[in-house]
Amino acid sequence: FVPSIKLLDAVDSTQNIAQRMAEEGAPEGTLVIAEQQTKGRGRMGRHWVSPPGKGVWMSMVLRPEIPLQFAPQLTLLAAVALSRALMAIAPLDIGIKWPNDLLIGGKKISGILLESTAEDERLRYVVAGIGISVNLEETDYPPELLEAATSLRIALGRPLERSEVIAAFISQFQQLYTLYHKEGFAPIRSLWEARSITLHKQARLVTPSGVVEGTPVGLDDRGALLVKLAGGEIIPVFSADIKLPAG
Ligand code: BTN
Repeated sequence: FVPSIKLLDAVDSTQNIAQRMAEEGAPEGTLVIAEQQTKGRGRMGRHWVSPPGKGVWMSMVLRPEIPLQFAPQLTLLAAVALSRALMAIAPLDIGIKWPNDLLIGGKKISGILLESTAEDERLRYVVAGIGISVNLEETDYPPELLEAATSLRIALGRPLERSEVIAAFISQFQQLYTLYHKEGFAPIRSLWEARSITLHKQARLVTPSGVVEGTPVGLDDRGALLVKLAGGEIIPVFSADIKLPAG
């Protein structure tokens, strides 16, 4: 993984640019970083607030030789890398909410969106989009988001250099991606589980096919959350919004 950074000013979404570059053959490690996104997108078709100069809005091209169904492992890897990077540069206690939201004090400071492109079940490439709310202030968020979202600046009471955040992320990602190639998903899973705030607590999961109530107990190899139902059965959940009990 050799990072090659492309810095841009205003874009619609860094995901679109990175995807176009990947289609044109951009190698693994291509990292598109923009000052501002006019159409930043989040999971489940949501908008991602990306005002100019205040955050890290970046998309990374990866070309791992793994089956398509294992692609979500990379989002979990990126979430672990970013949580370690942020804790290395500032006194922060970061929790990961499945699959890959980073939270401080229950409020979101970063999200990751993985988009895979495959052909006949063969993974061609993935674009991992990472949004980090570094220096946003309360006035940058629509009021309805303030209850659920915060920034590193708000949490720390001082701004951070975005370049420092990016450098720390790249360094952690390189280390974990190398570990992943050597030892597979198991060590990444353990690191993810250790930082997770989602496990072993009764939760309500709003999935595309309905609500599931249960206790998340771990991850499987596809990155699915394993949820123990009241009757004891354990089922994999691939996509959901998790509502944790208050406190
Ligand atoms: C989420 O939590 O819903 C995922 C948010 C991902 C946001 C990032 S910002 C950089 C990249 N470009 C986008 O349009 N989205 C991702």
